[in-house]
Amino acid sequence: MNLKNRDFLKLLDYTPEEIRYLLDLAKKFKKMKKEGIAHRYLEGKNIVLLFEKTSTRTRCAFEVAGYDLGANVTYLDPGSSQMGKKESIEDTAKVLCRMYDGIEYRGFSQEIVETLAKNSDVPVFNGLTDEFHPTQMLADIMTLEENFDTSKGKKLVFMGDCRNNVAHSLMVVCSKLGMNFVACGPRELWPKEELVDTCRKINEETNGSVLLTEDIDTAVSGAHAIYTDVWVSMGEEDSVWKKRIELLNKYQVNMDIMNKADSNAIFLHCLPSFHDLKTTIGLEIYEKFGLKEMEVTDEVFNSSKSKVMDEAENRMHTIKAVLYATMGDNIE
Ligand code: CP
Ligand code: NVA
Repeated sequence: MNLKNRDFLKLLDYTPEEIRYLLDLAKKFKKMKKEGIAHRYLEGKNIVLLFEKTSTRTRCAFEVAGYDLGANVTYLDPGSSQMGKKESIEDTAKVLCRMYDGIEYRGFSQEIVETLAKNSDVPVFNGLTDEFHPTQMLADIMTLEENFDTSKGKKLVFMGDCRNNVAHSLMVVCSKLGMNFVACGPRELWPKEELVDTCRKINEETNGSVLLTEDIDTAVSGAHAIYTDVWVSMGEEDSVWKKRIELLNKYQVNMDIMNKADSNAIFLHCLPSFHDLKTTIGLEIYEKFGLKEMEVTDEVFNSSKSKVMDEAENRMHTIKAVLYATMGDNIE
């Protein structure tokens, strides 16, 4: 398998075998990290992280993965580069690839990260756009496989805003890996039809499936993983909260829903999550709409079914696999 110099922009660009390779590599890196075995395979390499939206996990995962691999990492925070305001995306890409061996971008449209990639001759990594969040997917599937050994044939249910970047990306990765993906939420928020069609075509090859439903019982019956995400994503207007809460309140993941799934079912969430009142936005929503918990109850979030902290840790191991596979010189 040779992924040297490949961009990592969306999983539609990757074959099931390539995704499998990255997952297996991530498992090796996790083991090496736990055993204290050095893996400084990217010494002398430089990586730039370009963030137009905020982040905890993605930024830290890229930084620590880079450092563990021996690379140097520069972080450009939202608002501190010239990109977009004084310099085009094209020019930014052309400049950065003269200095760096890899470019990570988190921000708005998928078109931006694709334009960066077109104009740079070093790998570009998508750290989340409005459309896709591919590095998150590797961590999610890795976490699932840590609990069920294999992902193939497993049923993963996404509940909530099924049109968002995470839901769309899950539908793609599940299809690539021959899993049974269910989008459960109100019809208004079902995944984009064009992407559903694309995934159904992929499923003809992989024996996976995609089901869209408004019915919670149908969705969660026999499910191995129940996944949710925030009801309003970064970049959306505050004014959408009211309508979103009306539409999604009944799709909150609670213990009743978890108990209807497979007895070994796990709960997943990309994080950050509104499961209590310990955040400023959580408090504002409580004051305006009276909700103490949003997409998931505190009980589920903190239960033994919840694997969200393993999932967060796995961001780092999986991103390390992507950096090594695309930037490393001595790939076995
Ligand atoms: N899951 C995730 O991408 O988290 P951050 O927004 O903190 O990077
Ligand atoms: N859908 C969320 C994911 C955050 C990791 C957002 O885009 O804000």
